Amino acid sequence: MSDLVQVQDLTRVFDVSKPWLNRVIERLPKALLTAVSDVSFNVGERTVYALVGESGSGKSTIGKMVVGLLPPSDGAVEIGGVNLVTEEDAEVIDRARTDIQMIFQDPYASLNPRWKVGDIIEEPVASRGAAPEGLAEKLLVQVGLAAEDAGKFPHEFSGGQRQRICIARALASEPKLIVCDEPTSALDVSVQAQVLNLMSDLKDEFGLTYLFISHDLTVVQHIADKIGVLYLGRLVEEATPDHLFETPKHPYTQMLLAAAPKIDGFGREVEPPQGEIPDPINPPTGCAFHPRCPIAVDRCSQERPAMRDLMGQRVACHLAD
Ligand SMILES: Nc1ncnc2c1ncn2[C@@H]1O[C@H](COP(=O)(O)OP(=O)(O)OP(=O)(O)O)[C@@H](O)[C@H]1O
Ligand code: SF4
Ligand SMILES: [Mg+2]
Repeated sequence: MSDLVQVQDLTRVFDVSKPWLNRVIERLPKALLTAVSDVSFNVGERTVYALVGESGSGKSTIGKMVVGLLPPSDGAVEIGGVNLVTEEDAEVIDRARTDIQMIFQDPYASLNPRWKVGDIIEEPVASRGAAPEGLAEKLLVQVGLAAEDAGKFPHEFSGGQRQRICIARALASEPKLIVCDEPTSALDVSVQAQVLNLMSDLKDEFGLTYLFISHDLTVVQHIADKIGVLYLGRLVEEATPDHLFETPKHPYTQMLLAAAPKIDGFGREVEPPQGEIPDPINPPTGCAFHPRCPIAVDRCSQERPAMRDLMGQRVACHLAD
């Protein structure tokens, strides 16, 4: 199986300095926030790769760089061998862009309230030429809504139905890759499961690849082929769901899973993991997890652990074996 997405040493730094004059008066240095640091992973064609991490761990920033909405500060993303940042052939870029779609957390904010649902769904295709007759109606049925819904407006639907509309719109341009940023987080628990099941069915039917972003391990456990765990912009562990849940090798993953029995099946009412997440402007030296790690040794505060392959499970920890 070949890889559709290749993410290599991906890094994104934001300049979060105060305005120049304030800095001069207050004698402040420039403030740089490293949202994503040296992240590498591949996503196999027709598989689901889940990126999981606490709020602020860099999930959305990675998602935006993968779809080409945000340029990396360092490193590269290739989709089907095309790097959207460095590729010069406009035709190749255009083709690659239609292969990639994104679905966001808030389905209402991403639907134009003044447009009919049919027009919303067909817009990405229509902007490149005429959409095939009946495309929106066909897709609406495929996502579990009715063909007649094409004539309605977004406000006439529930949250779960609106997310189905967003999915239909993403499917319209026959993408290969869909980057889903917390697509079910805003939905009720029962609706969440339905939308996840739908996405799973559509993946098989359309031969899709998903990069699925979530703050909740239990949500991705059943849909993902591989899970990457992020901590403070760094990938700390990557494994299949079975391996990750049965033999988590990174102390941070172990801590997340130890918290899991205290939550319901969809990760609500979670007790936050112990300790504060450090400030990404001044991250801890060495292993970013060392101030919270129960087994840290001297080396951990001095040297950043490299990602190592341990029997198919990738782990960035000096002590994992
Ligand atoms: N445009 C920006 N300018 C400055 N800082 C940013 C910008 N976008 C993100 N950040 C910072 O980068 C870090 C990672 O943000 P990101 O939105 O990628 O996290 P996330 O994992 O998606 O979090 P959440 O679960 O809350 O959505 C955060 O510290 C955030 O404040
Ligand atoms: S490298 Fe050290 S501090 Fe980091 S997770 Fe491993 S043991 Fe803990
Ligand atoms: Mg986010």
